[in-house]
Amino acid sequence: MAESRAQFVTRLGVIATTVGSAVGLGNIWRFPYEAGVHGGGAFLLFYIVFIFLIGVPVICAEFIMGRGARSNIFGAFRKLHSTRQWAWIGYMGILSSILILSFYSVVAGWTVEYFVQSVTGAIDTIAEGERHSSFDTFSTGLKPVMWTLIFLLANAVILLRGVQSGIEKVSNILMPVLFLILIVFCINSLLMPGVGEGMRFLFNPDFSKVDSSVLIGALGQAFFSLSLGLGTMMTYASYFSDRTPLVKSASIIAVLDTVVAVLAGIIIFPAVFTYGSEPAAGPKLVFEVLPAIFHQMPGGVFWSALFFFLLMVASLTSTISMSEICIAFFTEQFGIGRRKATLLNAGIAMVLGTLCALSFGPLSNVLIFGQSFFGLFDYVTSNIFLPLGGMLISIFVGWFLDRRVFREQLRGTGSIKGWIYKVIVICLRYVAPTGIALVFLSGLDII
Ligand code: PHE
Repeated sequence: MAESRAQFVTRLGVIATTVGSAVGLGNIWRFPYEAGVHGGGAFLLFYIVFIFLIGVPVICAEFIMGRGARSNIFGAFRKLHSTRQWAWIGYMGILSSILILSFYSVVAGWTVEYFVQSVTGAIDTIAEGERHSSFDTFSTGLKPVMWTLIFLLANAVILLRGVQSGIEKVSNILMPVLFLILIVFCINSLLMPGVGEGMRFLFNPDFSKVDSSVLIGALGQAFFSLSLGLGTMMTYASYFSDRTPLVKSASIIAVLDTVVAVLAGIIIFPAVFTYGSEPAAGPKLVFEVLPAIFHQMPGGVFWSALFFFLLMVASLTSTISMSEICIAFFTEQFGIGRRKATLLNAGIAMVLGTLCALSFGPLSNVLIFGQSFFGLFDYVTSNIFLPLGGMLISIFVGWFLDRRVFREQLRGTGSIKGWIYKVIVICLRYVAPTGIALVFLSGLDII
């Protein structure tokens, strides 16, 4: 019943909500940590190439399917093709969304703790030499479990209020504020003594360090950061109006998302070298470096509270989008009410999220394939499921989708330049699937 589905009200709403999904901890927490682990410049270069060569076309593919079918990911494959097997991709997307929601909420929970510490001023009283141990003490304890659960609860409450009112209003106002304050922090970091070394690390590619893990990491980061390959963009596109221009929206999302990630890098790396931190510190990197940055800024506690507050909101607009995939699936495929579907989604994520929150402390010895719950969920989703989903979606849209649907959706109510149309077809048919396959193969050490 296409008519009864909610729709985004305004054009700005479409951009704000999809960018709200894309911009989040992926840009500000995960990008610097992945770039740090994978040697900086070369990682950034591949990341940007993957975003534009593979990411943008695959966003278009998800948009085409979402608006073409006006359905959740699972229903979209069913509606758009008579072969039922395609819908299996939908299951992978839904599984990914739950796994990501679980570990993502833990990091969002860390953000809540840092926000509280900023408001109480505690963050500023941590002595110079104790910043590393301070994060370790916190993250290995039980408090992260509490924050994870509280965050998931907040996420569920917003979702219960429905598509337009809940999601659009929050993201319309606060995303631009986040953007502005990142620029302030960038200027601050550019004035640090470590700026030369930091910029060189981020922007000077050292190709001798490139191996398959850099390629896989950059591809995974591109998909994670664009909320791509699991049906988020598809689900949101099912709420687009017929007038929303798909290619233009996809390009705006990719550019803004990349800019935010690069800004985060410019904020973090000069500080890493100024304060003698380890760029390859992993998931804890920004939580160790940011307090040091705020500490030396005039009015540091204020900036820190504002920043962590905005990061919390940015995380919420991302977790809302992940949950929406699941909720649309539960309600439309199983006929469960929206309320029940939201609670079911939150319940599963609370159990798995608790395991992830304990991964740094009490459960740090529980290893699956050599990884903790947190590490495993993060690796498997970003580096395997999302690119694989993206590859299958691009093959589906490029080769199997009815050409009429493809053209009608890309064109929308406007028109599309011939060459843009061709480039998208070529990318979806050839470039994206082979690109992703080559990165996977490099991981098997076949090439
Ligand atoms: N793109 C989001 C971020 O960068 C994370 C996300 C992944 C959101 C997958 C939805 C789906 O924070």
